[in-house]
Parts: sequence; C-alpha cells; structure tokens
Amino acid sequence: MSETDQAQHQTQPGKNDAAPGKILIVEDDADTNALIETVLDMAGFKCVQTYSAEEALQYLEQEVPDAIITDIMLPGMSGNSLCEHLKMRRRTNLIPVIILTALRTQKDKFYGLRVGANDYLTKPFKADDLTRCIRRNIERRNKMKEEGINRSIQIDLQSDLKLLDSVNELLTVVLQDTEVDELEAQKVKYAVLEMGHNAIEWGNRNDASLVVSINCHMTKDRLVFRIQDQGSGFAPGNLEHAATPDSDPAAHLSLREKLGLREGGFGILLSRKYMDEVEYNEKGNCVTLVKHMVPRNPPEA
Ligand SMILES: Nc1ncnc2c1ncn2[C@@H]1O[C@H](COP(=O)(O)OP(=O)(O)OP(=O)(O)O)[C@@H](O)[C@H]1O
Ligand SMILES: [Mg+2]
Repeated sequence: MSETDQAQHQTQPGKNDAAPGKILIVEDDADTNALIETVLDMAGFKCVQTYSAEEALQYLEQEVPDAIITDIMLPGMSGNSLCEHLKMRRRTNLIPVIILTALRTQKDKFYGLRVGANDYLTKPFKADDLTRCIRRNIERRNKMKEEGINRSIQIDLQSDLKLLDSVNELLTVVLQDTEVDELEAQKVKYAVLEMGHNAIEWGNRNDASLVVSINCHMTKDRLVFRIQDQGSGFAPGNLEHAATPDSDPAAHLSLREKLGLREGGFGILLSRKYMDEVEYNEKGNCVTLVKHMVPRNPPEA
C-alpha cells in the first residue's frame, strides 16, 4: 500500500489521541474492510487497512500494531499462514491476531487456533463483539508483557479448544521471557499440543469432567512442561500401535487398522524428536517434556 493510500485509510490525526490502540485490518473485500474500519473508528481505534497478507507483512516490517484482524481466504497468502508466520516470530508473536472469517465449522476454528490466532470470530459479525474481542485481547497482551522471567505457569483444562488457546499463550510467554530459538519454540508448541491431546483423548478418555494439568517452568537454561491427566496411565515402552524411532515409522498402521483405531500413532515419536527429554512417570499418566536452551553467547572454554 502506498503512503498516500495508507494516509487515506487511517483516521485523521488528532481524532485518536486517546485511541485505545492501532489495529491492522487484513481483508480483501473492500466493503467488509471499510465496514470493519468504520466500526473500529467509531470505537476509538486507529486503523490501517490492508487488502492482502503480503501487504500486511510489508506494513509489519516497519510497524507493530496493537492487534490484527484478518480474514482467512485472501488472494495469495492465506490469513492462517499469515497468523502462523507472525506467531512464530518473537517480534510479532505478542500482537493479538483475531481471525474474522465466513468459515464457521469447528474444524476451521480449530485450525485457526492451531496456527496461533488469539480469537476466532465469524461473519456476519456484531460491532460490539468485535470491539470487545479486540479490547479483551489487548488487555491480555498488556498483562503478559508486564509479567517476568523465571516463573511457573499452571493451567488446568478439559477440552482441545482450551488446550490450543493455552498452548498459544504459553508460546507467547516462552518467546517473550526466554531466549529460546524461534524454531525450537515452535517445536515445543507442537510437542505440548501432542502430549496435551493424548492426555485429553487417551488419558481422560475425552471425559469433560476430568482435568488435564499443564505446568510450565521456565528458567534461563531450560523449559520444562509437565502434563498430567487423571487416567489410569499406560506403558509407553510397549506400544505396538504407535511408531517407533528405529523401524519403518508407518509399520504400525496395519495393526491400527486391524484394531479399529483411527489413523495416527505418531504423537509420542514427534514429541521425542521435538524435545530434548520426554519422560513418563511410572504410572504413565504424567509426562515431562524438557527443552534445553543454548545460550546465545556460550562462555569461552
Ligand atoms: N496419557 C495417556 N494415557 C493413556 N494412554 C496414552 C496416553 N498417551 C498416549 N497413550 C497411548 O499411546 C499411544 C500412542 O500415542 P501417540 O500420541 O504416539 O499416537 P496417537 O495419539 O494414537 O495418534 P496421533 O498422536 O498420531 O494422533 C496412544 O494410541 C495411546 O494408546
Ligand atoms: Mg497422540
């Protein structure tokens, strides 16, 4: 977007002196884009309108807005890919991303949260819902900014949606408060998601009255996650229906089919690849994941 365009799309200077924040809109449909801008402008936000993910990325190279509202179906890069890209990077991870889309199935929402979106709204939207959602996410971001390093976080959850949301938040804290490499942080996210999902699905057998506890402890050297379910546990060393590191990783699939199990059997193997340590307790209902952090400037020998 040219500077003139940008100036045209922004609200007049002076009007937003007490603005609650600057919002980047990513929406290819000009009417919807204008509608979002009007709604946010009336609520006192300052808006920057872009019409593709690429245009938004260009803007984000120079500026850090207080929140981003993005559509999913965009020409070129999708809103989901934009979100994933921003959430992987330390510089942009903390910016709340709110997906505003016509895609309304649970699967779409899951995917949006999996790539790191802070919230997921569907069209047609109510002005109040959008502005409240933005405010809530900016407040949550501010709170996360204020808290410091060397801390423990304890989360209790019962559902996959809450798991996705919590793990996205953990990734933000990890990126902000530690020096972990961005790619390693992404691996941590997916390992915790796999193990959290196992705890809900296999440990608690999807029983919504049971709780999965995730404890995250961060120090300068290590990230430690403990994921505990309320199930009876299992023997992780003896799983014929799951992939093993030293044989054909798909060898177990025919057994799964015979047993009537859904496709899969890769979660534990993936987590072992992504983390430095994966240890189960004796019972098998609590797993500890550890990622060692390599100091940026290792001390000289
Ligand atoms: N917390 C748990 N409690 C009881 N059993 C578990 C638990 N976690 C894993 N398991 C058992 O270990 C098996 C292997 O888990 P893994 O995550 O590798 O594969 P999956 O969950 O079956 O499939 P995928 O993760 O690829 O979707 C599971 O099928 C399940 O039998
Ligand atoms: Mg699994």
